[in-house]
Amino acid sequence: MTEQHKNIYPVPDALAKRAWIGKADYEALYRQSIEDPEGYWAEQAKRLDWIKAPTKIKNASFDVNNVDIRWFEDGTLNASVNCLDRHLETRGDQPAIIWEGDDPANDKTLTYRELYEKTCQLANGFKEMGIGKGDVVTLYMPMVPEAAIAMLACARIGAIHSVVFGGFSPDAVAQRVVGAKSKLIITADESVRGGKQVPLKDNVDAALTRDGTEVCENVLVVKRTGGDIDWHEGRDVWYDDLVSRQATDCPAEEMGAEDPLFILYTSGSTGAPKGMKHTTGGYLTYVAMTHQYVFDYHDGDIYWCTADVGWITGHSYIVYGPLANGATTLMFEGVPSYPTPGRMGEVVDKHKVNVLYTAPTAIRALRAHGDDVMDSSSRDSLRVLGTVGEPINPEAWEWYYRVVGKAQCPVVDTWWQTENGGILISPLPGATDLKPGSATLPLFGIKPGIVDNDGNLLEGEAEGNLVILDAWPGIARSIWGDHERFVQTYFSTYPGMYFTSDAAYRDADGYYWITGRVDDVLNVSGHRMGTSEIESSLVAHDKVAEAAVVGFPHDIKGQGIYIYVTLAEDFEPSDELKKELIQWVRKDIGPIASPDVIQWATDLPKTRSGKIMRRILRKIATNETEGLGDTSTLADPSVVDELIEHRANR
Ligand code: WT7
Repeated sequence: MTEQHKNIYPVPDALAKRAWIGKADYEALYRQSIEDPEGYWAEQAKRLDWIKAPTKIKNASFDVNNVDIRWFEDGTLNASVNCLDRHLETRGDQPAIIWEGDDPANDKTLTYRELYEKTCQLANGFKEMGIGKGDVVTLYMPMVPEAAIAMLACARIGAIHSVVFGGFSPDAVAQRVVGAKSKLIITADESVRGGKQVPLKDNVDAALTRDGTEVCENVLVVKRTGGDIDWHEGRDVWYDDLVSRQATDCPAEEMGAEDPLFILYTSGSTGAPKGMKHTTGGYLTYVAMTHQYVFDYHDGDIYWCTADVGWITGHSYIVYGPLANGATTLMFEGVPSYPTPGRMGEVVDKHKVNVLYTAPTAIRALRAHGDDVMDSSSRDSLRVLGTVGEPINPEAWEWYYRVVGKAQCPVVDTWWQTENGGILISPLPGATDLKPGSATLPLFGIKPGIVDNDGNLLEGEAEGNLVILDAWPGIARSIWGDHERFVQTYFSTYPGMYFTSDAAYRDADGYYWITGRVDDVLNVSGHRMGTSEIESSLVAHDKVAEAAVVGFPHDIKGQGIYIYVTLAEDFEPSDELKKELIQWVRKDIGPIASPDVIQWATDLPKTRSGKIMRRILRKIATNETEGLGDTSTLADPSVVDELIEHRANR
């Protein structure tokens, strides 16, 4: 490790005093949470308003023959009541959501009372449309308050939301609508990001021409831009028309703690995206606790997470965690660099943001402009900085700390996954001395382990595969409609343990350093995607015979997408064809899967049994062609020399 990796930033005194969790608290509570999970979580569940308080706390097995995870199973509650109703008396007039538009001239605020009323109206509208408990509602939305309102309105009546990121393609929407048998899609005419319109409604129209989407009966359309759209009479409904005639009160459905709250699709190394099933009581307890402790959230703080609601970070740390805690959560429609590179700091000043939670890729993009990119703002309101989504390199961490936070704010590097529901490994601002590049220590109730490739748990300082040894309340319960796949994906590699598919190093102080995925999942600008998804898209193109996709280190995006393509007979490589293939993938999956580098290959390195040796392709893409390791098992080792000679990343 370099010198810089050894910098340690102790907890600032001021923070140590006011923080919810100090050093001694962390140690004692962590020990208690591991030795007596029942006692610890019974206490934490009291954060929520239960209709019937749970008496059974934990009932969870990671046994590969019987993976079954339940928390608070005899309790009943409603998530929207916990995020809204219970705050009305004490903070009805406090801003719940501050919305900052793509255009800096557009913003608005919804108080808790307004959010409550709008949620109830939509919930009543859902009922009028015949949506009820257990139905799946798909959201394909811009970052507007209606996205949060729709999630909460689903929760209110016991419908299950499935949010599809607004940057995904019609096919991706269709796949998820079919997979979840969703009866209703909520969308907008268009979204606006960085001054550009994205035709969400057109995409929904296209999605609903695909096989199997007949299950979807209605499309509810928010008018965001007033742009031109097609209208399908009888199927399409204007959001405003539906809600304006509804009452502003709506009784909340009593839900079991283990009833599903939402499904969220995420990519794996093989096959179609998996719909992670998250349930109500445990999830909400976990996100409320982690939001309070990790960001040291106090009443009155203005909190801003820059994620999109289409990802789990948006679910847990824009909507459910902050609102369960009665926080003011800022929702940003745009992109951090528009209209000027200093926008992020300007938004912080405009709304006096105290906690900023963003992604390493955004920090690196900002840093590339130079330190004076932050000169247009003072950021004096900031107290805690957070990062999530991918490993943060120490240089970017130091820059975030020194320039964005003016060396006043701890940086919490939060490690977790869609499957986890909430943050698992992270510093606590008042308790943890920071090391740039390390996600540091496990949160309460989280028991990480490092195993070698044979599944042996390693003690002390160690490097290997990151596993979690016992259940926590926020973990997904299953893959929607495919429990066996859930078991196989997460619990069969190292029986009895949850396998994260990440590698990690644990240092002598017990700090965790997450080094990245060990499967064929890429992380491009914090967006997760399977190499196999991109490969299937490419081979569906009639000029492509074969394709292999690997990641390579990218200065801003973290990882870039590198593609090896073997063309079908009679087709010749050309720059036009490269462009055509890039457009093809963008259209098929979405712009986030845009290939960075395409290398034409006459052949790919394969074992004698026909398996592509990605290890070698990764090395060539990374330009590490010195130690390629053993190539003797290849059917034709000369393929490698040719690929090296024509590598496209010079
Ligand atoms: C993967 C999960 C839930 C957060 C958003 C991403 C990587 C996430 C960190 C971090 C190093 C990180 C891991 C993980 N990752 N946060 N702080 N340090 N790596 O959720 O899309 O489910 O992706 O993101 O590789 O497995 P996701």
